[in-house]
Amino acid sequence: MTATHSRPGSPDTWVGQGLDRVDGPHKVTGTAPYPSDVTMPGMLHAMVVTSTVPAGSITKIDTSALLTLPGVRAVFTHENFPRLNEPPVVAFGDAPAMPLQDARISFHGQEVALVVADTPQEAVEAARLIEITYAQEPARLDWSDGVEEPLPYLPDVRRGDVDAGWANADARVGATYTTAENVNNPLGLMGSVAVWDGDHLDFHDSTQWPVAVRKILAAMFGVPESGVRVLVPYLGGGFGAGLNTWPYKILCAGAARVLDRPVKLMLTRPQMFKLVGHRPDTEHRVRLAARRDGTLTAIEHRARSMGALDKPALGLLTAATSQVYACPNVTTVERTVRLNRRYPAAMRGPGEAEGNWAIETALDELAYELGLDPLELRLRNISALVHPGSGLPWSSNALVECCRVGAEVFGWSRRDPRPGSMSDGDLLLGWGMATAFYGAYLPVSTARVTLYADGTAAVRAAGTDIGTGTYTVITQLAADLLGLQPRQVDFRLGDSDLPDSAQSGGSGLASSLSAAVMDAVANLRGGLLGLLDPASPLRGASPDEVVCRDGALCRDADPSARISFGDLLTRGGLNQLSAEGRVRLPDPQQAGMHQAGGFGARYVEVAIDPLIGRLRVRRIVSATDAGRILNPKLARSQIIGGTVGGIGMAMFEETVTDPDTGRVANGTFGDYLIASCADVPDVEVLFVGGPDRFSPAGTKGVGEIGLVGVAAAIGNAVFHATGRRLRGLPITIDQLLL
Ligand code: MOS
Repeated sequence: MTATHSRPGSPDTWVGQGLDRVDGPHKVTGTAPYPSDVTMPGMLHAMVVTSTVPAGSITKIDTSALLTLPGVRAVFTHENFPRLNEPPVVAFGDAPAMPLQDARISFHGQEVALVVADTPQEAVEAARLIEITYAQEPARLDWSDGVEEPLPYLPDVRRGDVDAGWANADARVGATYTTAENVNNPLGLMGSVAVWDGDHLDFHDSTQWPVAVRKILAAMFGVPESGVRVLVPYLGGGFGAGLNTWPYKILCAGAARVLDRPVKLMLTRPQMFKLVGHRPDTEHRVRLAARRDGTLTAIEHRARSMGALDKPALGLLTAATSQVYACPNVTTVERTVRLNRRYPAAMRGPGEAEGNWAIETALDELAYELGLDPLELRLRNISALVHPGSGLPWSSNALVECCRVGAEVFGWSRRDPRPGSMSDGDLLLGWGMATAFYGAYLPVSTARVTLYADGTAAVRAAGTDIGTGTYTVITQLAADLLGLQPRQVDFRLGDSDLPDSAQSGGSGLASSLSAAVMDAVANLRGGLLGLLDPASPLRGASPDEVVCRDGALCRDADPSARISFGDLLTRGGLNQLSAEGRVRLPDPQQAGMHQAGGFGARYVEVAIDPLIGRLRVRRIVSATDAGRILNPKLARSQIIGGTVGGIGMAMFEETVTDPDTGRVANGTFGDYLIASCADVPDVEVLFVGGPDRFSPAGTKGVGEIGLVGVAAAIGNAVFHATGRRLRGLPITIDQLLL
């Protein structure tokens, strides 16, 4: 059932094929160098020390005894760490706080000292023995302890008159939904190795955004950006935790600068719960109203997320609410409440995943109020042709197709809508569904393509492959554009000395790098044309009239007029020719369309053992419109990974914060539950829709959309099985006991 798409009119060969990962052999043989693998002569090891109180200030840190311990080289505190310059704000990559600049404590677990020693063991031991005295202050830990502030990235939406729409309705739902704090926790522990040479810095780092780390470190330490190089050829997962230039990175760079030695800093697993962001607690007050036939008359979504004193929440909880369904009266309002809490940040499908839980659960409730099938309610309201806010046609929107194809494969029409009506032996069965939207993000990247006289090509960009398949899909695309085999294309990334690229974030990098490579190859064709001799049959052709095919430049209309790359370069006296390209986006207004994101429909079957409250997901059908699919095998993996994350969000994941101390009470993989293989059924992955018109490569991003909608579909299935409406995530056994 999995469909793949080629771009009409282009000579695709490799794009659309399920190629194995080009980096697979490196990974399975252990030769792929991750930041944690970096080691060098004379390298010291650093361990972060974190606060044991949630609010107040440090009154005393006695480090003199530590310095007599074996191997300990330095202990940095707010009293002796270098003073830092204010960093520039780099969108989502902003540094939340500058570490060790003062004695203030704003959350339990904050960085308060750094121990540097000859070995990691010595650093850990000294960090354990450090004695810190605090003047503790009352901590603000819960919603009511803080004030609501607007979010930096998302304006409120007010369309029509929600109160009038609420009054003139036949059915209404008003309820509050919540989601718990979840933590990204990529398997690869995050860390850095800093190597200074005067004002030059080589910085190996677990980052999703090398260019931002370079910019922020250069500014903070007052050194030229041109001399800072950030390297991350491989990253052991990110899910958003690698988007920010976290304080630990700054600590590592600072210690290495002072000590004039390479310093390696690796976070521990418990520190991964505290120092590299998370999906914060959220709360959503939702009102939906509709006429008897299901037509929505009012959508109101008032949401808030917990922020830290030093960093507001990213938000985006309401980002999708006004974009999916046609409704004349819509209000979305979103706020953050800053508390003595750990830094919130982006986590896979940030905001939109949580907001989706609220809205898609409320829609299920509304369907029952109306006595209408939940799928039918969606189909009657989806705004498939035009964006409901701008009124412009979507650049692509296959949400209706996602709903229909998913329902067909799942067998939705066989569902008995009455709660508790379906069973399998002693188990209660529930069937639930939800739609999904994840906004498109197409940031600017650049890339360089170099053709060599031996007929091979190098493609270079600074971005990262965080495990999603960037190495592979860009290799496939470049092979097609250059008329080469993938093995003739050498694609390297993860190095800020290469052409600037956007972050691996917002599911935007594949689209962004693809567009940059397409532009670079177009420029390269222009460069190759400049090498033609006057008698060439290609003479006078424009870059758009020629294509690269089978190692040669050819006239598109007449491929027999061709000259091999080797001949062209040799004739020009060159061994290689390079061209750079960058993303060139049409102005959306001028393009007369609304840039679409990914769409999806999720169908879930759950089985509940009513005696012990055990909930199992038995089947999932996940239909997604992500535009053109560059590699169906890797795209399918992305959707499965997102689905697993969605199951975790729905049923397991919850960082527990001690209400008195603000401490993470379950910061290990023994205590913080994630979905294991036994919790995940076979996932049927379907791709529907076709190439997007706004994105140059036709892609809309496939990394995050897979998670969105899963939790609501599970919750709606739980209601169908039990008649019990649960409005807070995660849904746990204790809530299902009868
Ligand atoms: Mo994603 S949360 O933008 O890495």
